[in-house]
Amino acid sequence: MKENIRTLISKDEIAVRIAELGAEISRDYAGRELHMISILKGGVYFMTDLSRVISPEVPVTLDFMSVSSYGSGKSSSGVVRIQKDLDESIEDKDVLIVEDIIDSGRTLSHLIELLGRRNPSSIRLCTLLNKPDRRETDVKVDYIGFDIEDLFVIGMGMDIDQKYRNLPYIGVVEE
Ligand code: IMP
Ligand code: MG
Repeated sequence: MKENIRTLISKDEIAVRIAELGAEISRDYAGRELHMISILKGGVYFMTDLSRVISPEVPVTLDFMSVSSYGSGKSSSGVVRIQKDLDESIEDKDVLIVEDIIDSGRTLSHLIELLGRRNPSSIRLCTLLNKPDRRETDVKVDYIGFDIEDLFVIGMGMDIDQKYRNLPYIGVVEE
């Protein structure tokens, strides 16, 4: 099937915003080390781009986890099952969870609770996109790339049926 994709946020706009976030995070974590965790597979594109614009004075380490959330239909229940756990302990580390998009927020609120029990020094959340109108749970997002309206988007890690994650821009599939 050939999809008709409209650009919502261009590659250049994304690069500018990621550079701003990188500068902000570099300031906030000055003098510390940062342990970035991305949720496979969607968060990976954003995390690698973001990590490249963090100052070398804030040494970065990376880890990955994969979770599935049981849900009915399109909304996630937020009951998180770990499919692939982190490789390393997060105890006493400054953790930054890096996500592609936060929708209902259920997956993330459960994940933060779960990771919080592993005694990190701190835990913050960074997302490329945020859909505030869709939020169903109270989750504190520390760094947001862009707030968007309630549209289904693809690219920069986000997929439709596992496809189009590789688009370097954020697109919307037109009917
Ligand atoms: P929630 O915040 O628990 O509802 O789920 C967020 C997850 O749903 C994200 O990490 C994405 O994997 C997926 N998701 C939500 N909105 C979109 C979208 O517009 N495009 C692609 N995936 C989405
Ligand atoms: Mg995701």
